[in-house]
Amino acid sequence: MIYEPKCKIDIEEANSSRINEVDFENIEFGKIFTDHMFECDFKNGTWQTPKISPYKPLTIDPSARVFHYGQAVFEGMKAYKDDNDAIWLFRPDENFKRINKSAARLAIPEFPEDYFFEGMKTLLNMEKDWIKKGIGNSLYIRPFVIATEPAISASPAEEYKFMIICSPAKAYYSGDVRVLIAEKFSRAADGGIGFAKAAGNYAAQFYPTNLANKKGFQQIIWTDANRHEYLEEAGTMNIFFRIDDKIITAPNNDRILDGVTRKSLIALADDHGIECEVRHLKVSELKEAAKNGSLKEIFGAGTAAVVSPVVAFGHDSEVFELNKIENSYADFFKQKLMDIQYNISEDKHHWRYKI
Ligand SMILES: Cc1ncc(COP(=O)(O)O)c(C=O)c1O
Repeated sequence: MIYEPKCKIDIEEANSSRINEVDFENIEFGKIFTDHMFECDFKNGTWQTPKISPYKPLTIDPSARVFHYGQAVFEGMKAYKDDNDAIWLFRPDENFKRINKSAARLAIPEFPEDYFFEGMKTLLNMEKDWIKKGIGNSLYIRPFVIATEPAISASPAEEYKFMIICSPAKAYYSGDVRVLIAEKFSRAADGGIGFAKAAGNYAAQFYPTNLANKKGFQQIIWTDANRHEYLEEAGTMNIFFRIDDKIITAPNNDRILDGVTRKSLIALADDHGIECEVRHLKVSELKEAAKNGSLKEIFGAGTAAVVSPVVAFGHDSEVFELNKIENSYADFFKQKLMDIQYNISEDKHHWRYKI
């Protein structure tokens, strides 16, 4: 370990590494974890001294509130290695703010900033061999908080565990992404927790997404819960529509996750003179654009998926196939974003964060 944390962290190093057992060329997303994990417990009204120790299963009381009431929030981030072996994060301050915004909504105590950043830096320095060079390779980082207090009364817990685990990753989606526009099920409602990265939001998506899978769609584009009239976001991505040469994405509200990739693409569009409208887009307007040929592209944007083109969408009983186009905005944005993430291009917005 070469990094000296600026706050106290108890460190127990693994006796040996599992890295040689991993086939980095054939990694399935989220199934392999690095040698160490970061954890910090909240007890007696305060966050205790954090620790980094060998990755291992947890022992948690069966009555812990997370198992019963889903009091859990998380984040998703990536670390990238450049050609000179330097390690970078992308806008981690946004993830830090967002996990605490999510936590506040679920009555979970906020996590201290120095623990978050010092814990992350120390852990990533210990795991740097797990971050492989090369575009598309990254280390997916999963910070999360769970309610651990052993008590099943339906009220906020008084004890929590904050953790960071890391998983080597290549590109998240393989193959074409076909999306189904939601007509019956909803992901989130006004006044609910859609804007939070809360575990329960994802559990609620699995059943409708399974039904969509059976119809040949990988993802659902969620619509407003009231009337299913406006396009909002996909399962783990915000979503952009290119009509003629303009891109459109839904405004943030309390149903939509305020994505870091989304806000970065909006800024990149501005940098490169691409018109971007942040506004409500009706399903009927999208279908009309698909029918009259002005709909050029749909793409998802998210940390795991980066920028992911959508090849077809379904709604009602109709399916619209999108033709592959030359010079797609999806490719353009993906390239621009990755060039910044991998320390290849200038970073005029100061989004990169050196580990
Ligand atoms: C529901 C949802 N929307 C959007 C996103 C994209 O957010 P970000 O770009 O911050 O990864 C994610 C992924 O984290 C998500 O889970």
